[in-house]
Amino acid sequence: MSQLIQKDLDKLVNEFDSEFSSKKILVTGGAGFLGSWLCDVFVSCGAEVTSLDNLSTSTSKNIEHLDGRMNVLVGNVEDITLDEKYDYIFNFASRASPDEYIHHPIETLTANSIGTMKVLEIARKGGSIVLDASTSEIYGDPQVVPTPESYYGNTNSVGIRSCYDEGKRYAEALCMAYLRQHKVDVRMVRIFNTYGPRIRGEGLYGRALPRFISQALRGEKITIYGDGKQTRSFCYVADTIRGILKLSCVPKQADLIVNIGNPDEMTVLDLAKKIKDYTKSRSELSFSPLMQDDPKRRCPDITRARHILGWQPTIGIDEGLTRTINWFESQVM
Ligand SMILES: NC(=O)c1ccc[n+]([C@@H]2O[C@H](COP(=O)([O-])OP(=O)(O)OC[C@H]3O[C@@H](n4cnc5c(N)ncnc54)[C@H](O)[C@@H]3O)[C@@H](O)[C@H]2O)c1
Repeated sequence: MSQLIQKDLDKLVNEFDSEFSSKKILVTGGAGFLGSWLCDVFVSCGAEVTSLDNLSTSTSKNIEHLDGRMNVLVGNVEDITLDEKYDYIFNFASRASPDEYIHHPIETLTANSIGTMKVLEIARKGGSIVLDASTSEIYGDPQVVPTPESYYGNTNSVGIRSCYDEGKRYAEALCMAYLRQHKVDVRMVRIFNTYGPRIRGEGLYGRALPRFISQALRGEKITIYGDGKQTRSFCYVADTIRGILKLSCVPKQADLIVNIGNPDEMTVLDLAKKIKDYTKSRSELSFSPLMQDDPKRRCPDITRARHILGWQPTIGIDEGLTRTINWFESQVM
């Protein structure tokens, strides 16, 4: 495994070992970017781990080093029928980048609706703690920035992004229904843009940061949608994973719906320039029309994460970008 991942993994295992050792854990979307980091931590903590993934947006490459050390199921979360009892279920199965979900809207809605219900049923029967991967996208194009968890959102239920935004909103509503009606211990993490080793770089409309790095390293045009003045806030993966793990371990209480993200807001144009600089690339910046309903600003209010979890990001964009570029360079481009 890359040293870049291993160092962060060692720190995470050190911090969470006592929580997860000998626990039985299901990770849906376990072969993906975030899911594979979670599987790595849990396996190294000595947990009995099952990953369920249909490999629609990932390959088993992210978890092949765990062969023989965890159970690997290949299938759709919406078809899941497991009679096992898990201590924890981390529900991360969903297409996650605009390029993926706008081309697969039905699969995206199905995973987040039927898939989440299947997961919640397993939790209800087995008494599991569920950590549901929600997203900053449930806020749509927010009118309040930095955005706190109390903000209701500003979404377009019939726009091209609605399969993801509304799918995740429905998943949150379902989690609350299971919490209220069946007392399932559900926690929801609203993840803001996360990047780092194992994020996929290809895809025209894919996530901006890894796409810019791939394009810069290949000397291709860096494709910016709109004028680049829209903002995003980028959180390094090890910080996001630490926040997610803290949320799953904290004692049961109200308000376990928490933003996890880095509040350092920057324009997409500044990000592209930084990446061009850091990669010493000769790539030109190119501008194309903005995608429908693209949020103008994205920045989390992390007051709740600070209070409830004692969490805040520790790795800034300069350090995080350097590491991510190194990781991309170490892969076959
Ligand atoms: N990375 C981020 O910045 C970010 C931000 C907000 C929310 N999230 C959420 O976190 C979760 C993981 O995202 P990621 O960044 O690791 O993306 P990813 O695409 O790398 O991982 C998602 C995984 O889910 C699998 N999957 C998709 N549909 C499935 C289905 N129907 N059944 C079984 N497996 C399925 C994919 O094959 C993939 O391995 C997603 O739910 C995503 O919405 C991520």
